[in-house]
Amino acid sequence: MTKARLFRLSVVLGSIFMILLIIVYWDNVGTAHFYLHTTLSRPQGVLPTAGKDNPASLLEMDDFLENLLNSNLKKNMDVGRKAEKPKPPLRASSKPGASNLEENVRGYDWPTRETNMVLDQAKLQKERRQMLQDWCANSSFSFPTKERTFDDIPNYELNHLIVDDRHGIIYCYVPKVACTNWKRVMIVLSESLMDQGVPYVDPLDIPRENVHNTSTHFTFNKFWRRYGKFSRHLMKIKLKKYTKFLFVRDPFVRLISAFRSKFELANEEFYRRFAIPMLKLYSNYSSLPTSVSEAFEGGFRVSFSDFIQYLLDPRTEKLAPFNEHWRQVYRLCHPCQIDYDFVGKLETLDEDATYLLQLLKVDHLLHFPPSYRNRTANSWEEDWFAKIPMAWRQRLYKLYEADFVLFGYPKPENLLKN
Ligand SMILES: *[C@@H]1O[C@H](CO)[C@@H](O)[C@H](O)[C@H]1NC(C)=O
Ligand SMILES: *[C@@H]1O[C@H](CO)[C@@H](O)[C@H](O)[C@H]1NC(C)=O
Ligand SMILES: *[C@@H]1O[C@H](CO)[C@@H](O)[C@H](O)[C@H]1NC(C)=O
Ligand SMILES: *[C@@H]1O[C@H](CO)[C@@H](O)[C@H](O)[C@H]1NC(C)=O
Repeated sequence: MTKARLFRLSVVLGSIFMILLIIVYWDNVGTAHFYLHTTLSRPQGVLPTAGKDNPASLLEMDDFLENLLNSNLKKNMDVGRKAEKPKPPLRASSKPGASNLEENVRGYDWPTRETNMVLDQAKLQKERRQMLQDWCANSSFSFPTKERTFDDIPNYELNHLIVDDRHGIIYCYVPKVACTNWKRVMIVLSESLMDQGVPYVDPLDIPRENVHNTSTHFTFNKFWRRYGKFSRHLMKIKLKKYTKFLFVRDPFVRLISAFRSKFELANEEFYRRFAIPMLKLYSNYSSLPTSVSEAFEGGFRVSFSDFIQYLLDPRTEKLAPFNEHWRQVYRLCHPCQIDYDFVGKLETLDEDATYLLQLLKVDHLLHFPPSYRNRTANSWEEDWFAKIPMAWRQRLYKLYEADFVLFGYPKPENLLKN
């Protein structure tokens, strides 16, 4: 054998060895992932050290994915910063002239005048998060799905978690809690929607129908399609690295708001899917108009009491889970499985929004859009519930109790006792 042939042979053998190594490595990654998934899927109490005895290869993959994610995030942020520089700092407020001036003034003397507000907000957030953590850990307080782990949550129940990879933000949207405007903010930040090839920069420019089109948002339930079997793992890494927030509201007031917008206003879809069955079941109509405008003309309207009866009816959830407009927040956002960094409340929307945008380090990019719509006020509660029987109110409280307790809304004793 000549030296040249020997050399060629060793190159070939070396290559084969490398290929085998790669195959073995990928196989390891695959099984390691499977291992992680199955161990963590079990209830936490059974395997308290599950995180510690992972195989080494898994930890390597963890590091690899984290590094990949971090470098991407950093790159995106750098790109974002560079691209932003030439533009004026307060873009969203560029519309009304007078308020623009005011916003600019406010922007400049922020450090002295609003330091107190930041401190108060930080304290408030700490309290809200602490309360949430305490109730989640308290075994004498229970509600359905409380004890499951993140891995136990099916993909389709993760459809309310919107991800912005550019800034490292996850938002869990709750319908009837300023979600249209927060979705708009997420669209602007993640540049997930284009207007003639250019991403939107002013949240208010985004048409309403696009805001609520699910294909506009990159949500957790879509990870499977993009990342395959790595999706759960990637979700967990993002949940660890990203800033997660949600907005909540008094649960009973949220129900009134849902009723007002879906049944008091003419809504074709909600009339067909919900009002017709409710009217048939609880108001004893056998035939009803097929369109909502005819129904309103003929005086066929769902009452608030029909709506409450529908929520309490055990048959309702046998057919399908509650619609997202009245589904409990704990079922939409899994607050005991996801450690939210920020819990906003509609009752303090303006302050919370200002602070949150600072916390997310995006306050130089946009302002939270003001809402001009006729918001349901907490003080209306007694009037709305006046005609609802006491026994129903108490059952309704039980149904939404977890949302009251977890987010620190006091039990509405005035409604629940004679
Ligand atoms: C758990 O909640 C109960 C009320 O349901 C309360 O009395 C108890 O002090 C709580 N336990 C802890 C450890 O916080
Ligand atoms: C949502 O957006 C997608 C793509 O942008 C479009 O094809 C679809 O028709 C939209 N759906 C609705 C209900 O508007
Ligand atoms: C409902 O309507 C049917 C006829 O459509 C009538 O026989 C029945 O008594 C009504 N029930 C109630 C509770 O009003
Ligand atoms: C807001 O809605 C309430 C009840 O739906 C109504 O009484 C009030 O007039 C409305 N206000 C405005 C400004 O539209």
